[in-house]
Amino acid sequence: MHSPIAVIGGAGRTGTIITRRLAEEGHRVRVVSRHPERALLPPAVDTHPADVRYAHGLGPALSNCRAVVFTVEPGTADSGPHSPETTVYDGVRNVLAAAADGGQRPHIVLVSQIYVTRREHPMNAYGRLLDWRLRGEDEVRASGLPYTVLRPSWLTDNNAAGARVRLEQHDRGNGWVSRTSVAEACVQSLRLPAAAGTTFELYNEPGEEPTDWAPLFGRLVPDRVPAHPGPVR
Ligand SMILES: NC(=O)c1ccc[n+]([C@@H]2O[C@H](COP(=O)([O-])OP(=O)(O)OC[C@H]3O[C@@H](n4cnc5c(N)ncnc54)[C@H](OP(=O)(O)O)[C@@H]3O)[C@@H](O)[C@H]2O)c1
Repeated sequence: MHSPIAVIGGAGRTGTIITRRLAEEGHRVRVVSRHPERALLPPAVDTHPADVRYAHGLGPALSNCRAVVFTVEPGTADSGPHSPETTVYDGVRNVLAAAADGGQRPHIVLVSQIYVTRREHPMNAYGRLLDWRLRGEDEVRASGLPYTVLRPSWLTDNNAAGARVRLEQHDRGNGWVSRTSVAEACVQSLRLPAAAGTTFELYNEPGEEPTDWAPLFGRLVPDRVPAHPGPVR
């Protein structure tokens, strides 16, 4: 059987949908969670305890994985264990190091958010959330691993904004997207080669949900990866 796909945050709201969909597609799934005993997941899914803030537990959690989905809530403190710097910057770096240990080359799917390039946005007042998210994205893009970076707009638990999916690049938009659409985009990113090496925002709009994601991904412009992430100013 194939090696597993790790879903870090796979017991969360979007993460649970990703996990269920991957399991439905016949993949081996390993949910990485700080509290795996609390997770409500399909019986066939493995769980593994780990915390992205602490590198030591991630090696066993990510060993022999062919893909890693990172969908972790960042926290809003200015510093310390509940800050975006610790969770979505250090955390991403810890995950990349553990995932690539021993020469593994898993596909990394990072769930980020819109606004990350708009540092004047009020959300950046919360622990410099947007700056640190962007730094985490930059680490993924510069990692040399296959990757896809998703930037959901505001998340919903229904299709109030519609079920059609619109992908954008350049981070200038506003809107809503359902956790179901984001989860499906993660699953399809692992299936379709056109999603590799791309960064895109996700929105819903009135209409039907996509039956084929290939045309959506096919219109994306691949990232031009910087030699190395720049410093946070
Ligand atoms: N809310 C929005 O409008 C919005 C918009 C754009 C993007 N996003 C982002 O989209 C993603 C999914 O959002 P969601 O609302 O579906 O998430 P959620 O239900 O809040 O779940 C997030 C998961 O993060 C995990 N987590 C937190 N800290 C962790 C750590 N130190 N180590 C390992 N796992 C950790 C938690 O897992 P355990 O407790 O099991 O460890 C939790 O299940 C998040 O990154 C969110 O920030 C949200």
